[in-house]
This record gives sequence, C-alpha cells and structure tokens, in this order.
Amino acid sequence: MRDSFRTRLGFILAAAGSAVGLGNIWGFPTQVANHGGAAFLVVYLVVVVILAIPALYTELSIGHQAQANPVAALGKLAQRPHRLGAGLGKSVGLLNVGGAILMLSFYHIIAGWMLAHALGSLALAVDWPEAHKALTTSSLWRDLVFVAVFLIGTGTIVVRGVSNGIEVWSRRLMPLLVVLLLVLIGYIAMQPGAGAGFARYLQPSMAGFSDPNLVVAAMGQAFFSLSIGLGGMMIYGSYLNRDANIGQLAISVAALDTLIAFLAGLLIIPALYVAMGQGMQVSENGQLIGEAQLIFNVLPELFQRMGAAGPWLGFFFFLLLSIAALTSTISLAEVPIAYLLESRQHSRRRATTLVIAAIAIFAIALVIWFVPLFAWTVAYVTKFQLPLSGLFYFIVLGWLWSRSNKLKDQAQQHWRFRLLFWHLRLICPLLLLWVFIDVAFAG
Ligand code: TRP
Repeated sequence: MRDSFRTRLGFILAAAGSAVGLGNIWGFPTQVANHGGAAFLVVYLVVVVILAIPALYTELSIGHQAQANPVAALGKLAQRPHRLGAGLGKSVGLLNVGGAILMLSFYHIIAGWMLAHALGSLALAVDWPEAHKALTTSSLWRDLVFVAVFLIGTGTIVVRGVSNGIEVWSRRLMPLLVVLLLVLIGYIAMQPGAGAGFARYLQPSMAGFSDPNLVVAAMGQAFFSLSIGLGGMMIYGSYLNRDANIGQLAISVAALDTLIAFLAGLLIIPALYVAMGQGMQVSENGQLIGEAQLIFNVLPELFQRMGAAGPWLGFFFFLLLSIAALTSTISLAEVPIAYLLESRQHSRRRATTLVIAAIAIFAIALVIWFVPLFAWTVAYVTKFQLPLSGLFYFIVLGWLWSRSNKLKDQAQQHWRFRLLFWHLRLICPLLLLWVFIDVAFAG
C-alpha cells in the first residue's frame, strides 16, 4: 500500500515545513530590505492571494487526484490531446525530478553553511575560538563536510517514509522553529534602535512602490517560498486521503508560510537597525545590505557585540535556519524518491541511497567549481524551472485535465467557482508568462 500522512495536522506541518525554508528566513527579509521595505510586504501579500495560493491549490490538486509521483501524475492528468499531452506531462515530471536534484544540491550547500555557523556560535559560547574560526570561515573541506552531514540528516528522515519519517519529524521541528523565531524577535525588539526598523518594515512609503521590479520580484519570491514548481507539493498532495479539502489546506499552508516570512522580517529588519545604531555599516548605495553579507557578516557581528548572550543568539539563529532548511530538503528529496519507488520499482532504502548519492555528486561539483556553476544553477532552477513548471500545472488543471476535475465540475454549477476556474486558467498563466518574459529579457 502507498504510504500517506496520518493526520490533517501532520500534513499541514509537513507542507508548511516544505514551504518554510531559507526562502522565508533569509530570502524574504532580504527582498524587503532591497525593495522598499513595507512596500514589498504589501505587494507580496497581494501576490500570495492572487497567484501563489492558486498555484499551490493547483499543484496539490494534481498530486491529490493522481495519487502518484509527479512523473506519473502529470502523465496521467495531461491526457489531452491524446498521447501528446501524456508525453508532455511525463517530460515536465522528469524535468521536476531533475530540477529537484539540482535544487537539493545547492540547497544542501547553503544549509551546510547554516549548520556550520550554528556549531561555530556554539564553539564561541564554550570559549573555543579555534573551532569557531574553522567553522565560520569558508573552506573547501568545511563545505564538503557539512554538505555530507546535512545529507545524512535528510536521508535519515526520508528513508523512514512519509508517516514515520516526514510527518513525525515535521511535527517535532516546526514547533521548535516557531519558538526559536519568537525568542529571537523578543530579544532584538528590546535593543536600542529596533523601533526604526519596525517602522521601515511596517509603514509603507509611496516612494517604495516606485521600484519597477517590485511585482516580478514578489511573484518570484512567493513561488519559491510556497515550494511551487518542482513537484514537492504535488508529492505531498498525493499522500492525502481522497476526502481531503485541498482548497482549505492550501490556504492554511500558505497562511503559515506567509506568517513565518512576516515574522522573519520582524526579526531581521529591526536587527539591521540595531546594528546601524551601533555604528555598523548596514547599507550600500542607499540599499540595505542583503544576501550573504547580511547573514554571515552583519548579524554575527551584531550578536558578538551583545555580550554573553551573543553566542547563544547566534546559535539559535543559525539553528533556526538549519531546521527551516531541513524540513524543506525532505520534501524535495521525496520527489525523486517517490519516482524511483513507484515508477522504477526500487525499494525505499535503495531509492533514498541513489537520490542522496546523486545530490552528493552534484553538490561536490558545485562546491569545487563554485564560481562558474553555483549562481548559474540557482538561477536556472529558480528563475526558469519554477515559473515554467508552474505555468504547465495551470495548463493541466485549466485545459488538459478533463475527467474528474473537481474544480471544472464545480464551475458548471456555481458562478463563484466559474470565476475561480477562469482565474486559474487565464489570469494565473498570464501572470506567470509576465514573470517569464521579464526574466528572459532582463537576463
Ligand atoms: N520553499 C522553500 C524555501 O522557502 C524552498 C523549497 C522547498 C522549494 N521545496 C521546494 C522551492 C520546492 C521550490 C520547490 O526555502
């Protein structure tokens, strides 16, 4: 029998775990900092409602209806016109399997950095400066070791299956994540200078909305954050009972994901202003510092200025990021594993080993040839593959999937569902096309 989630809450925590990742704790606050503060927050919320929740609903529905891995699911539902649709569906499914492995290879590298920094902060707490330095200074061996450690973590959970591995661990890790986040927010909020950060984050200024990239940036971020476009949500949807209410579940998962991204902003933007108050440099060319510098330079330096609590804050912060990453890697790993399990008849143990080995090979290549390969791989997966697959999912739900398409049947009965159906088949693909064209021409 096919493995499945045991409870509704277990599913919600696992799917929210997939969604809540580095994209929330690191990516979202960075985008807020670089795109006009509160203006980004406002546009993001709108985009989540009009594009991301429909996309999540679509991806979950496809998996739920097909009760199969993305290759089989897309092949099964995209039957029109005849064979052509099925072949196209399978191809996009395979693209998802490959994309998941590529994404896992760079995601594990970043996750490894987080774990190394967590242990590095711990080393500082126990007054062991040599270990601190080795763990927080980038080097080939450090990156390789921590990719391996993180891969073992991912593998250990997924090899146990959906209900005994993914569900059990999501139930443990997600509450811990929320507690860590709240503790950190509370601590930073009490520091001098935090108030200005709250204002920048929560009070939109008209000038903030003038950024021409705002909407496309928000759409890209929302897609990534809700884990759409690599089959991660599709495979989780396939492990739901037949009678699950996908619309409600999609809204719950999106709400949790968005709440956690919002809370991460409440931590990081004020932290930047606290750092500024301490005379640290937190902006360049009028933009707040984001990306790697923010996480690995500005915040650690800020923590170090906070006396005895500092190393523990650093530890909690990087532990938070590591946990967020782990609940995401397990969902992505389940995509190729389920494919090998169901469509290629491997045992779960063997499928897990093969997938972990494949990720390891790509990750090693990315660590060794970091400069030419890393940024390219990230861009390929996030800017090209996610919107393209998302577009295809909408086309499947809106145009190709004819029999037992629940939304399509409901659309015939009530105008509200008809409106929703047309929103999904027309407006959402057009919005994605816009992202796609913008990315293609803006480079
Ligand atoms: N959503 C995760 C984050 O915010 C990343 C992620 C996990 C993901 N699984 C995915 C992104 C599947 C796209 C597709 O970090």
